[in-house]
Amino acid sequence: MIKKSTLVLFVFISCSAFAQKAVDTKMQLYVTNLMKKMTLEEKIGQLNLPGSGDITTGQSSSSDIGKKIKDGHVGGLFNIKSVAKIKAVQKIAVEESRLKIPLLIGMDVIHGYETTFPIPLGLSCSWDLKLIERSAQIAATEASADGICWTFSPMVDIARDPRWGRIAEGSGEDAYLGGQVAKAMVRGYQGDFSKNTNIMACVKHYALYGAAEAGRDYNTTDMSLQRMYNEYLPPYKAAFDAGAGSAMASFNDVNGIPATGNKWLMTDVLRKQWGFKGFVVTDYTGINEMVEHGMGNLQQVAALALNAGIDMDMVGEGFLLTLKKSLSENKVTLQQIDKACRLILEAKYKLGLFENPYKYCDEKRAASEIFTAKNRQEARAIATQTFVLLKNKDHVLPIKKTGTIALVGPLIDNKNNMPGTWSVAANFEKSVTILQGLKNAVGDQATILTARGCNLIADKKVEDRHTNPHNGGSYVRDNRSDADMLNEAIANANKADVVVAVLGEAAEFNGESSSRSNIEIPQIQKDLLAALLKTGKPVVLVLLTGRPLALTWEQENVPAILNVWFAGSEAGDAIADVLFGDVNPSGKLTTTWPQNVGQVPLYYNHKNTGRPESIGKNFEKFRTNYLDVTNQPLYPFGFGLSYTSFSYGDVKLSSNNLKANETLTASVTITNTGLVAGKETVQLYIRDLVGSSTRPVKELKGFKKIDLLAGESKTVSFSITTDDLKFYNNHLIFDWEAGEFEIMVGPDSKNIKTEKVQWVK
Ligand code: BGC
Repeated sequence: MIKKSTLVLFVFISCSAFAQKAVDTKMQLYVTNLMKKMTLEEKIGQLNLPGSGDITTGQSSSSDIGKKIKDGHVGGLFNIKSVAKIKAVQKIAVEESRLKIPLLIGMDVIHGYETTFPIPLGLSCSWDLKLIERSAQIAATEASADGICWTFSPMVDIARDPRWGRIAEGSGEDAYLGGQVAKAMVRGYQGDFSKNTNIMACVKHYALYGAAEAGRDYNTTDMSLQRMYNEYLPPYKAAFDAGAGSAMASFNDVNGIPATGNKWLMTDVLRKQWGFKGFVVTDYTGINEMVEHGMGNLQQVAALALNAGIDMDMVGEGFLLTLKKSLSENKVTLQQIDKACRLILEAKYKLGLFENPYKYCDEKRAASEIFTAKNRQEARAIATQTFVLLKNKDHVLPIKKTGTIALVGPLIDNKNNMPGTWSVAANFEKSVTILQGLKNAVGDQATILTARGCNLIADKKVEDRHTNPHNGGSYVRDNRSDADMLNEAIANANKADVVVAVLGEAAEFNGESSSRSNIEIPQIQKDLLAALLKTGKPVVLVLLTGRPLALTWEQENVPAILNVWFAGSEAGDAIADVLFGDVNPSGKLTTTWPQNVGQVPLYYNHKNTGRPESIGKNFEKFRTNYLDVTNQPLYPFGFGLSYTSFSYGDVKLSSNNLKANETLTASVTITNTGLVAGKETVQLYIRDLVGSSTRPVKELKGFKKIDLLAGESKTVSFSITTDDLKFYNNHLIFDWEAGEFEIMVGPDSKNIKTEKVQWVK
């Protein structure tokens, strides 16, 4: 007997599939009719995404773009800010070009628009998918109110190497969590495309950009297909499954062929295996860079890209300049050009641009929906959920709103540093600095003494390289002597009840082309911290960073460490909320933090090897280990403290012996054993003890974030089926294997309680 609810669901799915098919057919007909009217040049024009600069300034290159739009040689533009400017270029396209085809207008809206949220790595530490989706929705609302209909986000690259500066832009090291975040962001941006607040997502950087050798940006990746499918590809696939409308090819070489020219990646995997129906754009000059990769001249690499499955060429104009010639020489086919053109026109159709090319150009919306008080309030609340309390000895935190606070650090009052890397549209001017946030919180109840204490890096030349004013950043070095700056800070500390030292990285230490080989806090800042500790005053380290740092010394010596990433427009107020205990921190790390850079790459879901490290015992020779450091992280994946404490009961399983179609329930009771209410993210890990391939020592398979009042207990249950046990085996077959499994639940990836189950086919 089929249940009534199952029948209703079946009818609903069939009806919506039918309705979707009808919409698709209508779109295809529309595009077919339009393409019948298009010349070859106009088709190739749709594949062109030139670097727009600011075309309203009347500079010569700008007027060139205006002419190109008129001639039908432009499919879209990107990173133009303001509805007026966007309306002006859209007007050229729809009023002055022969076929009046509207432009796609893109932008790097990565973690907010004018209202910025914490950097994506920070957002992922909230482990709160609703909140992440909401941040993407607000970003889409603001961006669309300003003329944008396409964002180059989400960035879903798995990264296990903190040297890589772009680790800041993703969701960390775990494929499962990364996939969940990717889906949430696509939902947040796109909705169902029905409203003018929905914009198209672009999943990037496909693929494996985060696995760059040695953490050096743009560097080669070379990895087994099994690792790729199990550990790196799932977040991209999750984003496409969630309906993302477009994808961006990565810059890097993937197993010998640059992604931009990699047919296996762009066609076999993306389209044939995963059924992706959207379009693929290159990254910035990705086609041209294949010349440097050593794949041929511009004509050859452009043909290689088109043949691989690329549809749109960002900035380099390789398609525009060479495809016609390549077609006449049979190096590419008209079908391939048509296919790319069709997919771009379909994207414009889905966005509703043919119906109303000015759908996203509503000045009234621009005036009322951007950087609103409500959005800023939400950004503040969201930011507080991303902070990770790394240490809190003797409850130094939260601090009191009374007495004297010494606020020290080179960035305590720097607006440009609050939004963090890739904040193209941020309202830097109105960002709340840490000083401002603390002042807002204490009013006249406390005295705040301020001092920079030092510059970011002692050597000016090195510092300049780290703070290159990209994306609005502008750090002004203090020209006083190191000694003068230090003395001022120490004098303040001596007068204070508590010292809040805001140290670490500046926003420009992260993001594109910002790899670091030393992932510690720069030495001059560490010296300052040591001097502050010597005063004997309680010191709280508020850590600004876009990557996991090696904090071994700080962990040993500083009583309290609160990692606040780069927290966005409302950073200062959000930091004050947590420092003073108005909000209890609940963020948990989504990357492993190593003890030192030599352990990198260090990640929780590693393989066991045949000679695992003997944990908790004395050093043993002939094990997989180092002579000078253990394999253990400083802070494990999933780790984060709270102002309260939680205790975990034993893991209770519904059964220890299961058959293929049975569902296992794993339950754990968690109790808030402290004095204040708090949130806890309960994590489920599974280990497949024997496999046809070696399996990771544990893999995240679920998590739940719960609220607990002081003294309260809650039981959290996870439903586990054989779908959760599946993996790509050595023949790339995705299936589960019968046998014994460990079911682990805990507050982080290290501190877990384990039970075993047997699962038979
Ligand atoms: C970055 C992309 C970005 C693009 C457009 C490139 O340099 O790698 O992530 O979307 O520029 O700004």
